[in-house]
Amino acid sequence: MTGKLRLGVNIDHVATVRNARGSGYPDPVRAALLAAEAGADGITAHLREDRRHITDVDIARLVAELTVPLNLEMAATEEMLAIAIRHRPHAVCIVPEKREERTTEGGLDAAGMFDQLAPMVAKLRDNGSRVSLFIEPEARQIDAAIRLGAPVIELHTGAYAELVGEALAAELKRLSDAAALAARNGIEPHAGHGLTFDNVVPIAAIPQVMELNIGHFLIGEAIFDGLGPVVRRMRDLMDSAR
Ligand code: PXP
Repeated sequence: MTGKLRLGVNIDHVATVRNARGSGYPDPVRAALLAAEAGADGITAHLREDRRHITDVDIARLVAELTVPLNLEMAATEEMLAIAIRHRPHAVCIVPEKREERTTEGGLDAAGMFDQLAPMVAKLRDNGSRVSLFIEPEARQIDAAIRLGAPVIELHTGAYAELVGEALAAELKRLSDAAALAARNGIEPHAGHGLTFDNVVPIAAIPQVMELNIGHFLIGEAIFDGLGPVVRRMRDLMDSAR
């Protein structure tokens, strides 16, 4: 499995800045449209249970206004399932969620949550969304994704983004082996979390990985260089790795 590596731009933190003041700006939908114009292949947004950044109205507007596919990230709850069924986004990425965490702290335990996830994955798939499971690069999680019939996994790169030296090399190998294992079993591997200009290339070079979802770094860097140039630079780095 090879091909163009897609970039999904996560616009959650545009909403974080907006919500810090309870104002109507900056508008995450405007950022999404600009990112798409600059070369993002899709937009990712995480509707958290506490609505700390993206809101229900944001999701409705993204569904109505986007010209590129929307990847909705959500926890495995009945409330989120109903929202995803109603909006039928192109993709739904199921993530673990803890109220007290600052950001998603690890992959979903797809193996341990098998019975809870099975009906959810089936309902989302039957409703026409591409289901992705955000998991650690572990064989038992990929095995659960296979048994759940998920067409996509997103490999958690959060640990990779923080490691150095030999531990970094070992984590990169784990990610690469996991991508190969998924692809051999007909699952499309994606990757994301904590990716930056400095660490994206080795991940983009994993041939089976088809999509990267990147948010916090891009939105932060946009303060200095503007969102369009930052998205274009990330795209160029990703393309240079293939
Ligand atoms: N992929 C998933 C599943 C995520 O939960 C997040 C963070 O919301 C990202 C990618 C993007 O991570 P970051 O904001 O660190 O680039």
